[in-house]
Formats: sequence, C-alpha cells, structure tokens
Amino acid sequence: MSNVSTDANDSSNAESQPENNTRRRFLTVATSVVGGVGAVGAAVPFIASWNPSIKAKAAGADVEADISKIEPGQLIRVIWRSKPVWIARRTPETIASLSGLADKLKDPDSSEEQQPEFAKNVHRSLKEEYLVLVGICTHLGCSPQHLKDGAFEQYVEGVSEGFFCPCHGSKFDMAGRVFQNVPAGLNLVVPPYTFIDDNTILIGSEEGAA
Ligand code: FES
Repeated sequence: MSNVSTDANDSSNAESQPENNTRRRFLTVATSVVGGVGAVGAAVPFIASWNPSIKAKAAGADVEADISKIEPGQLIRVIWRSKPVWIARRTPETIASLSGLADKLKDPDSSEEQQPEFAKNVHRSLKEEYLVLVGICTHLGCSPQHLKDGAFEQYVEGVSEGFFCPCHGSKFDMAGRVFQNVPAGLNLVVPPYTFIDDNTILIGSEEGAA
C-alpha cells in the first residue's frame, strides 16, 4: 500500500518522534499480517493490546484495543482487517475547537456515508474524548500524518492539531473531516466499534451507542 513511504517521511517536530517510531512499528506489523508471517517480535508493544490471532485478524475478526494508557493528545494505532486504525484521545481544547470549523470543511455534518450512524455528530465518535478512524486518506490511499501542538497550523491557520496527507496535500481535522480546497473529497472513515468498558474498545462491532 502506498502509505508505507508517507509515514516514514513525517516532518513534524521533535515531540512527534515517539509517534514516528510507532509508525515504523506499524509498517512492520502490516507487512507481517499481509504476508501471513508470524515473525512480529519487533512490534511487541504495539501488539500487546490485540486479542485475536494474526490469522483471525486477517480474516476480519473484531479487534480489542486497550486505551487505558493513551494520554490526552496522544494517538495509538492498531490493525483491523489489514487496515491501520487510529485511536486518538482528544484534549478538551481540541474537542472545543471542532464546533467552530464548519465553514472550512467539505462535509462538516458527516452527510456522506463515511461513518456508522452513531458517529454522525460533530465529534464523529461515541465518546467525544476518543476518536477512532481508519488511517487511510480518502483521496488515493496514503497514510496522513498526525500533527499536533501547533504543527498543523502551517496547513490550516488557527488550527493546532489535525491530519495532513503529504501525497497531495489533503487535510483533515481531529474528527477526520476533510478541509476544503484539497484533493480528497470525503471525510476519513470511522469504522464500526463499541466500548467494552472504559478502557477497552472493540473495533468491528457496530453495536453499543454511548
Ligand atoms: S492520497 Fe492523500 S492527498 Fe492524495
């Protein structure tokens, strides 16, 4: 998939280095899943939150993600049906900013079928604090970068945090909504998911509105 090279080129600031490292781990894991290879020892921290076997995941099983250690402003990545899925914990400031972006967005009200019914709200999520997205650009499938702590303002004035796709410059807010005047036409996809408990998300199940 073409997202491999783009994540490796993340140009965000030094504070994003742990995320860059995590991206590299993800790429290792993604390659292993697609190839059906079990040698994923290098990605142990990343895999720790998964329940199903790699074989089961490749076949489309639901995936459990432990969100207990995600700090506000952080984002983790898991694999679901061979796709990258992001889980971001939004800060109160980020949550508050979402309602003021409508005039900059192509589909601020999630009118297009890019999410389950429960996510047709300004946060595009079950709980406003947690954002769950398929991390694939809706233009041509690259992997956008998560830019925070002001790093996103170089792309959208006054917006501190968001997702930038370096392939052709598409931009998305912290609900995965696409900004205007970029090649991507649709918001990022919200997968079906539910909360098993306060610390665990099950990706792949559509039941369980908050
Ligand atoms: S693939 Fe993301 S902007 Fe083209």
